[in-house]
Amino acid sequence: MNAGTAPDRGARDNNTHPLLQIENLRVHYSAGRQKLNAVRNLSLSIDAGQTVAIVGESGSGKSSAAMALVNGLAGNGEWDADRIVFKGKDISRQELMRLRGRAITYMMQDPSGALNPVLTVGDQIKRVLKYHTSLSKAEREIRALELMERVEIPDAASRLQAYPHEFSGGMQQRIVLAMALAPDPVLLIADEPTTGLDVTVEAQIFTLLARLKRELNMSIVLVAHDLGVVATSADEAVVLYAGKVVELGSVDALFRRPRHPYTIGLLQCAHDLHRDNILNPIPGRIPGLEERPTGCVFHPRCAWKTEECESIDPELAPLDGQRVACIHHQDVSAATPNS
Ligand SMILES: Nc1ncnc2c1ncn2[C@@H]1O[C@H](COP(=O)(O)OP(=O)(O)OP(=O)(O)O)[C@@H](O)[C@H]1O
Ligand code: SF4
Ligand SMILES: [Mg+2]
Repeated sequence: MNAGTAPDRGARDNNTHPLLQIENLRVHYSAGRQKLNAVRNLSLSIDAGQTVAIVGESGSGKSSAAMALVNGLAGNGEWDADRIVFKGKDISRQELMRLRGRAITYMMQDPSGALNPVLTVGDQIKRVLKYHTSLSKAEREIRALELMERVEIPDAASRLQAYPHEFSGGMQQRIVLAMALAPDPVLLIADEPTTGLDVTVEAQIFTLLARLKRELNMSIVLVAHDLGVVATSADEAVVLYAGKVVELGSVDALFRRPRHPYTIGLLQCAHDLHRDNILNPIPGRIPGLEERPTGCVFHPRCAWKTEECESIDPELAPLDGQRVACIHHQDVSAATPNS
């Protein structure tokens, strides 16, 4: 059954254009009189049915970028972009905002923030359907049950009457997913959808997301800090460090041949964790918004740093289908074995 919000779905089969393109997305937060850049010039292109991951450590600006796309920034946040193209047509920021909640939906990092503790989960799903679809009351009842079944909540009919605290963390996240799917979106933005869940439940949620993406031919922007998750769930990845895109490309290429020292560090860290259960983070820490260094923003932590790196802020340069922002990427690549 369709949610009855068909206008955007009709053109989904047109594969000649990416579903959504954003050029040079910028996000800043005001702090007193200062405007602090959280994301600089992030460009994204998402095809129909594709998963694009935004990856990086905590504080790199992933949620800021994702929230900008759905106009969900905190009150002191603002965003802008040079160009927004939806299904091949240039649209304004206001037009993008009108897609929010219908063609584009958002799944928050923390399910407890998305669920109202005093409403049953059934009522919460039906509320989304009421505001974002044209379904009748009777159709909303049917659709709410269908959504609970779609996200594999056992005994869905009776569980519609339950409150969020009666569900485990993993089940709560499935309900948040049901709410995000309710308007039948063409693009789901999933911000670290498995934060706080154990690895088994995490794997179940990602398997479910992959199945739903296939069944619904939906695109996903997946925000993640774990490269293991990205490897199995995404087609393309954008690596973000301190608000700047340092590398992007297909997940296959990034894993086979990472070019940027930060991507290499993240991959090494993921290998150590998954293979040996050892957390071996990149030395140093990501700078806060007020501490961003001049030159290459990664230079205080980079083993490849030279004096030039302290003054040159490298552009994202195309390289064999990937893009990388590092002035020494050739030396770095030559010294890094392909995996
Ligand atoms: N409302 C705000 N005001 C000021 N600074 C903010 C605000 N929200 C986020 N920041 C800062 O912006 C930077 C990026 O934050 P963001 O939440 O986007 O990172 P993230 O990559 O999603 O991190 P995490 O993995 O921890 O969720 C951080 O330095 C953060 O402290
Ligand atoms: S530009 Fe310099 S500091 Fe930045 S990642 Fe490349 S080698 Fe490291
Ligand atoms: Mg975040």
